[in-house]
This record gives sequence, structure tokens and C-alpha cells, in this order.
Amino acid sequence: MVIEIEVKGIKLYYKSTKALDGVSLNVKNGEVLSIIGPNGAGKSTLLKVINRVLKPHMGIVLIDKKPIHNLKSIEIAKKIGYVPQRLRATGMLTVYDFVMTGRRPHINFIPTKEDEDKVYEILKNIGLLDFADRALEELSGGELQRVMIARALAGEPEVILFDEPTSNLDLRYQIEVLNLIRSLSNKGLIVIMALHDLTQAYRVSDKIIMLNSGKVIAVGSPDEVLNPELISKVYGIPVIIIKEHKIIVPLF
Ligand SMILES: Nc1ncnc2c1ncn2[C@@H]1O[C@H](COP(=O)(O)OP(=O)(O)OP(=O)(O)O)[C@@H](O)[C@H]1O
Ligand SMILES: [Mg+2]
Repeated sequence: MVIEIEVKGIKLYYKSTKALDGVSLNVKNGEVLSIIGPNGAGKSTLLKVINRVLKPHMGIVLIDKKPIHNLKSIEIAKKIGYVPQRLRATGMLTVYDFVMTGRRPHINFIPTKEDEDKVYEILKNIGLLDFADRALEELSGGELQRVMIARALAGEPEVILFDEPTSNLDLRYQIEVLNLIRSLSNKGLIVIMALHDLTQAYRVSDKIIMLNSGKVIAVGSPDEVLNPELISKVYGIPVIIIKEHKIIVPLF
């Protein structure tokens, strides 16, 4: 089991844009870490660095004290699941076939009965059994988002990175996905996710990191990070916080 992820002094530029400017954090197994911050703050970029999809210009990511750039791709694929913010074109793949691609790190040559059973079990748990034979391009935005989550779970990861996992979901599935995320963390997984909904971040996180323009503005427990002055300053709008219900409301 992965015990700890440490991110140290990450700097990453896209041409002239400084997307990450000295970001450090650490997260332990059983913890949910949420990354919050305005559009363009660097949240997705940070997840991609942790997943080794992007190579930083400075800094290092350690999994249990080992630099990820020393790990084999297959080891990373086995340990880390990633749910992207959006999916690139996938042709006419069915939901079942796409979720099966999530088992790739575990499959030798062709999927076994065990792989098939795993995929069906996950589809069932995430309410997608009826969609197994549907083509991805025929799905609604929320259905597709759940399919991407199912694919990541199919790899049985020890660390899971979610990029705005609730952004396309209706109220019921927002809550179901947040409950699923809590249950994954209760099983000892490390969960790191980018979130826009501050109330969701307040309720589900053990730890929050707030980014703005690629810099860490605040890090700590939800109560430490989510204060109205800081949120108003970073997002440029007034908010009120109802602490007893863990609710954050923008005022307009
Ligand atoms: N492939 C790219 N090429 C050039 N610039 C990029 C690229 N990807 C992201 N950027 C820029 O880097 C900055 C950080 O982007 P990133 O996607 O990490 O932000 P984010 O916090 O995830 O934003 P959002 O809330 O909109 O998803 C932004 O200014 C963005 O325009
Ligand atoms: Mg993003």
C-alpha cells in the first residue's frame, strides 16, 4: 500500500505561462486532499505532475520516499488511478471495453474471467450496468464522468487522482461520488482531487490546498483554509460560511 506522497518545490511552465510556481504538499494514506483555486490556478497541471503525465521543470514527486521518475510506467499505472477533467475522442468504444482498458496494468495478454468479473462489479457499483454495451459518444456528460471514474477504479489503484469528479453530475450522483471517494479513503487509499465546489471540499476533505496563479496560497484543514477573507481575496467575490453545516455560499 502507498503510505505517503510528497510533492516538493514543483515549477512547471507552458511556454510563457508559469502554471506551477514552487508547489509543495504531502498526503498520507487514508486522507482526502482537495486542491481548490480559480480557473487556471494550476490544479489540473498539478494532478498531471503527480501522475507523471507532465514532467516539471523543477522539483520532485516522491511515493513512499521514492522519486516517481525512477519508477517504471507499469508501476505507476498500477499504483495511481487518474480521472481526467474531460475525455479525448474515444471513437466507438463501448463502456465495457473502455472500463476494461483500466485493467490494462494487470492484464498479461487477454482479459481473464476475473478481469471481466471485476469490470462488471464496478459497473454495477457505480450504476452503469445498463450502459455496458453503449458507445461512449452516446452518453451524457454525467454518464461519461461516471464511466471515467469506473475506469480508474478498474485498475484497483492505491492512489486516485480526480479532476473535478462532480462537475457534470446531478445532485444525487454528486453525493454518491463524494461518498464513494470517502469510502475509498476509508479503505486506505490516498485521494487527491481538484474541486470547484467549496462546500464539497469543506465536507469531504481532510486537507485542502488552495492554489492561485500556480502558487500555494494556503494549506491545512478545511477550517484553517476556508475562511471568508481568503476566499474573497482569491476568487474576487464575497462569500459567507455557515460553519455548523459546513456550507460556503457566494453572495451576488
Ligand atoms: N497545454 C497547455 N499549454 C499551454 N498552457 C496551458 C496548457 N494547459 C494549461 N495551460 C495554462 O496553465 C495554467 C494552469 O492550467 P490548469 O489547467 O492547470 O488550471 P486549473 O486550475 O485546472 O483550471 P480549471 O479550474 O479551469 O480547470 C492556465 O493558465 C492554463 O491556461
Ligand atoms: Mg482543471
